[in-house]
Amino acid sequence: MTIDESRLDSIIDEYNAEQGSLISILQDVQAEYKYLPREALEYVAGRLDIPRVQVFGVATFFKAFSLKPKGRRQIHVCMGTACHVRGSKKVLEEFERKLGIEAGSTTKDGEYTLETVNCVGACALGPVVMNNEKYHGQMTPIKVEDLLKKV
Ligand code: FES
Repeated sequence: MTIDESRLDSIIDEYNAEQGSLISILQDVQAEYKYLPREALEYVAGRLDIPRVQVFGVATFFKAFSLKPKGRRQIHVCMGTACHVRGSKKVLEEFERKLGIEAGSTTKDGEYTLETVNCVGACALGPVVMNNEKYHGQMTPIKVEDLLKKV
């Protein structure tokens, strides 16, 4: 992937290229690309004078960071306890079946990324599915197709 070094420079310079700002810099880089391209991580490591292995370590440690491109539409199925006991596993399986991918993957056309989360703080609405930032409560396998049509 070709990265825009001037864009990365402006992000890094906002933090005065401080090593202690690595996480904030990676958050901004991810906001720019929707994931953390390997080339961008290498560039950040060089600019901050931090070993690449350390930068990749941070990028892989935090679940909020992704080293793989995300789909335009991101589906998060809550697998927290409250949602789980109300059947979120069957909802997840239906998404996997309809999209033809497993949780943690992106469809080949780059449209959908399917992921699981552990409680999004709306337990009373469980099972909960998030489509990008929008919440959908009381999900059932039957509602999966409708939701995919709507998004
Ligand atoms: S367990 Fe799903 S929202 Fe809390």
